Amino acid sequence: MILPVYLCGQQVLRKVCQDLPADYKDLDQLIGNMFETMYNADGVGLAGPQVGLDYRIFVIDLNVFADEKPEFKDFKKVFINARITERDGEDVVAEEGCLSIPDIHENVTRKNRIRIQYLDENLNSHDEIFEGYKARVIQHEYDHIEGILFVDHLSGIRKQLVKGKLSNILKGKTNCSYKVKPASIK
Ligand code: NI
Repeated sequence: MILPVYLCGQQVLRKVCQDLPADYKDLDQLIGNMFETMYNADGVGLAGPQVGLDYRIFVIDLNVFADEKPEFKDFKKVFINARITERDGEDVVAEEGCLSIPDIHENVTRKNRIRIQYLDENLNSHDEIFEGYKARVIQHEYDHIEGILFVDHLSGIRKQLVKGKLSNILKGKTNCSYKVKPASIK
């Protein structure tokens, strides 16, 4: 089932999320819905708060880039109750966007390498290191479960420049091809 994507301005996007309870019912259904919602919106990552849930869960699928970059083949992952334990390597600048902040694309500086502990869709635990674009997407989604949005990383001047677009999103003035839930709708 395709879920509405909560837009910037919705309170849930600002919450530090809680761990997903071990006995959470319908986890498979939630994960399925999150992937379906993400694919429908042409996204490569989606986090719990973006579908209105303040739980530490996010999904990522980079297969869309696999033709050009084979390293992304089969990179379809679910991260539950994740904790980033290390961030190091170089600072890398690259453009990001977000399904919750339509029509805004801005450069964000992030560390090139992370170490993360998480549970997968079968609740098996992992402790892994990711680098490059994978590390970037994971950090973007991880920010979501910490109540952080990519525009928070922008410098004062860039923030000023996107202010008008952000206020349109708050008012629900967006041109999305997917179903959304703007802050103006309770
Ligand atoms: Ni996002």
